Amino acid sequence: QEQEPAVGAGSVKQQLSRLVISSLRATVPEVEVEPMVEVSAKFADYQCNNAMGLWSKIKGSGTSFKNPNAIGQAIAKNLPSSDIIESTSVAGPGFVNITLSNRWVAKKIQDMLVNGINTWAPILPVKRAVIDFSSPNIAKEMHVGHLRSTIIGDTLARMFEFSNVNVLRRNHVGDWGTQFGMLIEYLFEKFPNWQEIGSQAIGDLQIFYKASKHRFDNDQEFKERAQQGVVRLQGGEEKYREAWKKICDISRSEFDLVYKRLNVELEEMGESFYNPYIPQVLAELSSKGLIQESEGAQVIFIEGYQIPLIVVKRDGGFNYASTDLAALWYRLNVEKAEWIIYVTDVGQQQHFEMFFNAAKMAGWLPDPKEKKYPKTSHVGFGLVLGSDGKRFRTRSTEVVRLVELLDEAKSRSKSELLQRLTENGKIVDWTDEELEQTSEAVGYGAVKYADLKNNRLTNYTFSFEQMLSDKYAHARICSIIRKSNKDVEELKMSGAISLDHPDERVLGLYLIRFAEVVEEACTNLLPNVVCEYLYNLSEMFTKFYTNCQVVGSPEETSRLLLCQATAVVMRQCFQLLGITPVYKL
Ligand code: ARG
Repeated sequence: QEQEPAVGAGSVKQQLSRLVISSLRATVPEVEVEPMVEVSAKFADYQCNNAMGLWSKIKGSGTSFKNPNAIGQAIAKNLPSSDIIESTSVAGPGFVNITLSNRWVAKKIQDMLVNGINTWAPILPVKRAVIDFSSPNIAKEMHVGHLRSTIIGDTLARMFEFSNVNVLRRNHVGDWGTQFGMLIEYLFEKFPNWQEIGSQAIGDLQIFYKASKHRFDNDQEFKERAQQGVVRLQGGEEKYREAWKKICDISRSEFDLVYKRLNVELEEMGESFYNPYIPQVLAELSSKGLIQESEGAQVIFIEGYQIPLIVVKRDGGFNYASTDLAALWYRLNVEKAEWIIYVTDVGQQQHFEMFFNAAKMAGWLPDPKEKKYPKTSHVGFGLVLGSDGKRFRTRSTEVVRLVELLDEAKSRSKSELLQRLTENGKIVDWTDEELEQTSEAVGYGAVKYADLKNNRLTNYTFSFEQMLSDKYAHARICSIIRKSNKDVEELKMSGAISLDHPDERVLGLYLIRFAEVVEEACTNLLPNVVCEYLYNLSEMFTKFYTNCQVVGSPEETSRLLLCQATAVVMRQCFQLLGITPVYKL
């Protein structure tokens, strides 16, 4: 049973949509249509665009409406009275222009200051989502692509969580597969006392991996032992399980260093977790007639693809695809997720398309024409390019240490900050702790922001030189408020906001669009929408601040509250992007 959202809940667009729905029911009770409410750039604040579509549905059916404009007039007239709308007008083929009431906008902002930004969360159509992100491979590598997945996935999770969705943050680590035979046998060989050693003894796991691979490729006897090792591990032999666990633990503590720096939370549920479910899941697919034999392997043929999806290899082993099918089954049936989102580079797009299709053929996912959820999405991002324009990746001899990369970001931002503070003589105002924290916030922030601000589908060039003007904007607002020597916590209870100046109104309208922006970013899985909003907001703030005197003006209280509201919204944007704001720069 769907509950009606509370009055005032959701984004402005959602609130207006509810008014439009009741108007549509009164205007054309005979047809069911979705409300079409958009932001209007020119003629008003918002606009309702339903009239034309309705006209093409009902013309010739004996309707009393003469043209789309008449429908638009009726939609405008039938809008329930509300304190949101100041006025409406109807243009051309029935566009209903809606101008919001200044008083309502001002009150909405003030209510947010009093009750918190959480009251501005959009309403999303799902209650629980899985976000599968980061997902590096044990003992292999955690490369820049995994870093990108970590940052984008974390931001998506933050946006859904803010929107009151229960998010299962899943780290689908590659902790299963044939490479473990080789790793385990090499561990036994190199460290006869392997049970006692700590992670430092092994040192760099990637080097360990390469050495064992070298052994595997060049020594037939070792190779055979490694191949038997996989069988013994998968057969559950105690000693092998223990060695496997040891290797995973070491990898995990390396990954955790990166997550800790980035302040990202994740729950590890690796490939091994789903392994026991594979046989029953494949049995189900087989009973539905989906699985065939092809060249000794078990495969699923999928329309539109030249090659089939292999689910059991020729040697009888399971693979990436069989694991993903079992994981999807688990997420749908046990975890009851309504939206399952995977974040990897676009190189894996075909894998995801194919196994999503297999799931549709199995009837696990509804026909999107009938029901939208549950659904799956692959969030693919472009490659990271080095400054030479080529793919930024680990060369086999070289280990990219993400931790070092983050250290470098911090030290660069620190030297820039020091230089600037020395130049303008402000260095005396800063404590060492403030310097540390700010360089960390700016440095890590720059790495994240560089990842998120691009439309994720395009490649981008990795560079430390992209700085954060928005951080400056936020710090500047904080300093304006500090210098006013007024207590905004007290003002927000006693004072009032008014939006009489055009630049105040533009800023106010943009502030209340916040929920819409988060809604759009979640719906289309595009975090860069939030970055753009943050950028535009700081531009609008600058315009307002240039044209409207704040401190010492008759409107001081109202304008300080607008400053404060802008800072609160900016901070929430930073929070969604996983970036620590700075209060002083
Ligand atoms: N471990 C994989 C890789 O490094 C990514 C896993 C993504 N998630 C998934 N369910 N397939 O490429």
